[in-house]
Amino acid sequence: MAKTGATHVIIMGPQGAGKGTQAAVVAPRLQLAHIATGDLFREVMASDSNLGKEVRSYYDRGALVPDDLTIRMLMARVDEVLVGQSSLRGMLLDGFPRNQAQAESLDLALRDRGDRLAAVVRVDVPRDILMDRLTGRLICPNCGATYHRVFNPPKNDGVCDVCGSTLTQRSDDTPEAVERRLSIYYEQTAPVLDYYRKSGLLVDIDGDRPIDEVSASIIEALAPRFDAS
Ligand code: AP5
Ligand code: MG
Ligand code: ZN
Repeated sequence: MAKTGATHVIIMGPQGAGKGTQAAVVAPRLQLAHIATGDLFREVMASDSNLGKEVRSYYDRGALVPDDLTIRMLMARVDEVLVGQSSLRGMLLDGFPRNQAQAESLDLALRDRGDRLAAVVRVDVPRDILMDRLTGRLICPNCGATYHRVFNPPKNDGVCDVCGSTLTQRSDDTPEAVERRLSIYYEQTAPVLDYYRKSGLLVDIDGDRPIDEVSASIIEALAPRFDAS
C-alpha cells in the first residue's frame, strides 16, 4: 500500500441522517475526496459482474457486505483517488467503518500509510424521522447526486440537476431493508462511536435541521482540526 501521509475525516450516523448529502457539500470545501463504500457497491452492482452479483446478495436485503471484501475495495479506491493528488488533504469517508472490526482494520491501514484521522463527525437524527427521508429519497444512477421528493427536490421533476439523467430509487430503500439497516446501525455501528469518542476524535452534529445549516456546522467544527495540523 502506498504511503501518502494524508489527513482523513469520517462521517457517521444512521441511515438517512444525511451523510451522503453533507459529504457532497463539505468534502470539496475542505479539500477532501468523498469516498462512500455504499457508492462503491452501487457501482460494482451496475456492472453485472460476478462481484456485482455477490455484493447484491447482501446489499438488496440491507445486510452488511463481508468485512474483507469491503476493506479491499475501499483501500483500492483510496489509493486510486489519492495517489499523485497534491491538492487533496485526504478523504471524507462515508459509510465506513460500520463495526468494531472495520474500525480496527482502518486504524492499521492508516498507520501503515503514515496517515491520520482529523475527526469523526457524527450526524444524528431521531430514528422516527429516518424512514420518511429514505422512502422519499431519489438518486442519480449516473453521478450519484442525492435528492428527496419533498425535502430536497430536483429543479425538474425526476431529472438530475447536475447531469440531466433520470432519477431512481435505491434498491435497498424498501421498508424491510431500511428496518434491517437501522437495526444493524444501532447494534453494530453506533458502539464504534464510543471508540472514537475515547480518542477525542468525535464531533457531534445535530442533523435534524435544514441541509445548509447542518453543512455550516460541520465546516465550522472541522476547520480548527485542520488548522491545528
Ligand atoms: P450506504 O450507501 O452507506 O447507505 P446507508 O448507510 O444505509 O446510509 P444512507 O446512504 O441510506 O444514508 P445517508 O446518511 O447517506 O443519507 P442521505 O444523505 O442519502 O450503504 C448501503 C449498503 O451498502 C449497506 O446497507 C451495506 O449493504 C453496504 N455497505 C456500505 N458500507 C458498508 C460497510 N462499511 N461494510 C459492509 N457493508 C457496507 O439522505 C437521505 C435522504 O434524506 C435524502 O433523500 C436526502 O435528500 C434527505 N436529507 C438529507 N439531509 C436532510 C435534512 N437535513 N433535512 C431533510 N432531508 C434531508
Ligand atoms: Mg449515503
Ligand atoms: Zn446526475
